Amino acid sequence: MNGDNLNKNIEKCTEFNEILSDILSNETVKQMHNYIQHGEISCYTHCYYVAYYTYLICKKLKLDYKSAVRGAMLHDLFLYDWHTTSPADINEKGVHAWAHPRIALKNASKIFNLNDTEKDIIRNHMWPVTLKFPKTKEAFIVSCMDKYSATAETFMNCRNRITNSRIYRYAYVFLGLFIFRIF
Ligand SMILES: [Fe+2]
Ligand SMILES: [Fe+2]
Repeated sequence: MNGDNLNKNIEKCTEFNEILSDILSNETVKQMHNYIQHGEISCYTHCYYVAYYTYLICKKLKLDYKSAVRGAMLHDLFLYDWHTTSPADINEKGVHAWAHPRIALKNASKIFNLNDTEKDIIRNHMWPVTLKFPKTKEAFIVSCMDKYSATAETFMNCRNRITNSRIYRYAYVFLGLFIFRIF
């Protein structure tokens, strides 16, 4: 599914957007728009996609999908550009891959009253990079959806780069000329 179709599907999903309404309108959460996560996808959009995939799966499996969706939306609320900034720059310990779940949990806890499932999701979403296994099924699913979405976002970016490149356009022109036997 391309980004446009995915966005249309998410917009149409009233229940999903209602679960997140207070989170999406929060000014701190909106700051995630300012940071790129993968390719051209912002941290906000990445979390929104992960939350949507999580919603579909957790609802189907009759799990606590509301907590799962809320935790997923907050799982990367670390609020810095990880390409140019390290945790040490914001007085936090460790390297980004290991430190950002802890930083996101700290930020999210300041704004929202998180339940245990939501905390587990944020704290352990980087499993197996961070060795602690998620305690809840919901957190395990978010961890998987995070990897899935990150891969899809990176692939989408590579495809956009290739299709927007000059070589790709020239190749199309040559192919057209070849087909119409101009050569
Ligand atoms: Fe993350
Ligand atoms: Fe993530």
